[in-house]
Amino acid sequence: MSKNISIGLLGCGQVGTGLVKLLNQQRDFIERRTGLKLVIKHTLVRNPADKRAVKAPGLTKDINRILGDDSIDIVVELIGGLDPARAYIIKSLKAGKDVVTANKAVLAHHGREIFEAARLVNRQVYYEAAVCAGIPVIRSIKEGLLANHINLLMGILNGTTNYILTRMSEEKLSLADALKQAQQLGFAEPDPTSDVSGADTANKLCVLAALSFGIKVAPKDIYTEGIMGIELEDIKNADEFGYCIKLLAIAREVAHNKVELKVHPTMIPKKHPLAAVRNEFNALYLHGSAVGDMMFYGRGAGPLPTASAILADIIELGNQPAFVPTPCVGTTPDVHRGAYNWGDKKILPMAETVSEHYLRFPIIDKPGVIGKLATLLGRHNISIYGATAALVPTKKQLGNVRILTRPAKESQLKQALSEINRLAIMRGKATVIRIEE
Ligand SMILES: NC(=O)c1ccc[n+]([C@@H]2O[C@H](COP(=O)([O-])OP(=O)(O)OC[C@H]3O[C@@H](n4cnc5c(N)ncnc54)[C@H](OP(=O)(O)O)[C@@H]3O)[C@@H](O)[C@H]2O)c1
Repeated sequence: MSKNISIGLLGCGQVGTGLVKLLNQQRDFIERRTGLKLVIKHTLVRNPADKRAVKAPGLTKDINRILGDDSIDIVVELIGGLDPARAYIIKSLKAGKDVVTANKAVLAHHGREIFEAARLVNRQVYYEAAVCAGIPVIRSIKEGLLANHINLLMGILNGTTNYILTRMSEEKLSLADALKQAQQLGFAEPDPTSDVSGADTANKLCVLAALSFGIKVAPKDIYTEGIMGIELEDIKNADEFGYCIKLLAIAREVAHNKVELKVHPTMIPKKHPLAAVRNEFNALYLHGSAVGDMMFYGRGAGPLPTASAILADIIELGNQPAFVPTPCVGTTPDVHRGAYNWGDKKILPMAETVSEHYLRFPIIDKPGVIGKLATLLGRHNISIYGATAALVPTKKQLGNVRILTRPAKESQLKQALSEINRLAIMRGKATVIRIEE
């Protein structure tokens, strides 16, 4: 006999609509495969009278219809943003309901509070869709890789920026034109700030780092640089040097209790597996102590891929016994909850991180310019392993010197650049892009 699972849906926008559609399509299939009969009972929206692409059951704008309904087992939060999403998640847990959310922002900013609230009332919060949407990275880290010590994560976690950088590289579009194209195709929001600034990627990195390293981290703790400073010139130069540019989220254990966490445009060799991730696709590359290198690839956004992850969470929760006993250390629920309050790992300050760099200096073309730059970099302990210079075709006296450095400390590079940027030969600020081999 099937087991009924009643769902309270918060939000019926892009993802909520996808969830209703997918559930309508797959309800019988899921029941046959899992023995669960999934039913959405109420749907919370701002404007219940609005015309919608799907028939959402029990439309309401009153959250208490859901919180006060004892027959609801699982609340699915698809409102987005911080508030009221945070308050509704916590109220749902206190009302005895498990929660599924796709909301990386609320988890990144309030994860600890939310998981602590769940622990206190013995309920669960599942969030597979919050990072890489349709690609099951959370479940893989949480369960499939439990026997591994993960010491590196590198992710292309934002489809909008990956689409823009791919179009710049393949069609030689300017950033502004590539962004316009992404908006026309629905890969970028009318206001793309959260994507292009790297904030969306940093939110996702918070969620992954907390889960993989048990580190206490908030978005403000993560060095975050978006893609707006990337020029076509840099994309072409990267190509000449054998690299491509991707917006990467990087989490690396650099010592027993120190983790480097950062989001920035990164030059990676064209032969790196992440270099093959084009357009709006997402990927997560990681290194586990037992499995070695591994990469997940797929669609990191869109109504159906996101709904696919949400339904998997609902099914997993629905399959658990009605009463979840307090979990022992090491069981799956504990890993899930404890991710936000484990251990004593610290974040390595950005100034102490070490990286190879691509530097571009816009200069006045005259003899001795490269020597001057090299001497100043050398004075700050920065070695060069490649340098080229080219004139700007339309302005004969102006040029660009492109330099690749050996590994150098961020603080030393910053000092060197602040001196170089003041030199009379400079015709603008230096561009810096960090390199990962
Ligand atoms: N879009 C994607 O591809 C994707 C992928 C992965 C994760 N996510 C995450 O999924 C979540 C939902 O994204 P979305 O793109 O579906 O958002 P969306 O299209 O903006 O939909 C938001 C929904 O929430 C409702 N809502 C907003 N504020 C509300 C409030 N104060 N009270 C009641 N209802 C409220 C809206 O009601 P009305 O319809 O009445 O306006 C709408 O139905 C976000 O956390 C997002 O980060 C999205």
